Parts: sequence; C-alpha cells; structure tokens
Amino acid sequence: MTATPGENLDALVDAAREARTRAYAPYSAFTVGAAVQAGGRVFTGANVENASYGLTICAERVATVSAVSAGERRFDAVAVVGSAEEPTPPCGACRQFLSEFGPDMLVVVESPEGRRDTWTLSEILPHAFGPSFLETTAEP
Ligand code: THU
Repeated sequence: MTATPGENLDALVDAAREARTRAYAPYSAFTVGAAVQAGGRVFTGANVENASYGLTICAERVATVSAVSAGERRFDAVAVVGSAEEPTPPCGACRQFLSEFGPDMLVVVESPEGRRDTWTLSEILPHAFGPSFLETTAEP
C-alpha cells in the first residue's frame, strides 16, 4: 500500500470491515473494526470486551496500539466500521487517543451497508488537548 490516504480509502475501509469479524463482543453484541493507515502500512483492531465491563477496549485503540508498537508515530487515516445502521464515529476517548498520532488524520466511518462519512479528526475533536500543552507550565 502507498502512504497516500485518498487513494486507499476503500481498501482501508475493507480492512476495518474484515477486522470487525474478529471482534470479541459477547456483552454488547456491538462489533467494531478499525484500520489505521500509517507509514504506508495498515494496522487493524477490533473491540475486545471483558466480563469486567469497564476493561473493554475499543477497536480504534486496539488498532492504534498495534500501529504504535510496530514503530509508527504518524497516522494518515483511520477507518471504522461498526454495527449501527448509521456510520459509527469513534467515541470521545478514542478521538483523544488517535489525536496523539495525527490531529488532522482522515476519519472514515462506514455502516455495514456501506453508508460512509468522512471527516478530519480535528473536525470531530476541536480544541484538542495534545503534547504542546505539556511544553510549558504556568506557576502553580
Ligand atoms: N466501541 C468501539 O469499539 N469503538 C467506538 O468508538 C465505540 C464503541 C465498542 C466498545 C464496546 O465493545 C461496544 O462498542 C459497545 O460500546
């Protein structure tokens, strides 16, 4: 795959769709797949639930951890496919988690039937907290 997000959005969505088939969601039955494009590579994840409900990990964060632990630090795009009739956008926690690795990345969300929405991450996470805020600190 090349690193140009625009050319590969269909492939990225397909990767998210495929990842969704591996979701572990026995409690909510809401399955989600995500695919991150970074450094010309694609990293996928699915949501992983737990009997201790609060330990559940969203698909987007699984894909993020996979990409970052493979050495990537800058994401071009993320695709998400969830169970809802409407395209499923990343939850707030996942927006923040993704923002660390590309505040302006493309976010492509598609419904199982193929309805698609596309935004930049900064559009759906305006005024984000990020690393720059840690560079200077005011006196306590
Ligand atoms: N979920 C995701 O994987 N990503 C999101 O952005 C929203 C929610 C998962 C978590 C849980 O397993 C199920 O969907 C229902 O909330």
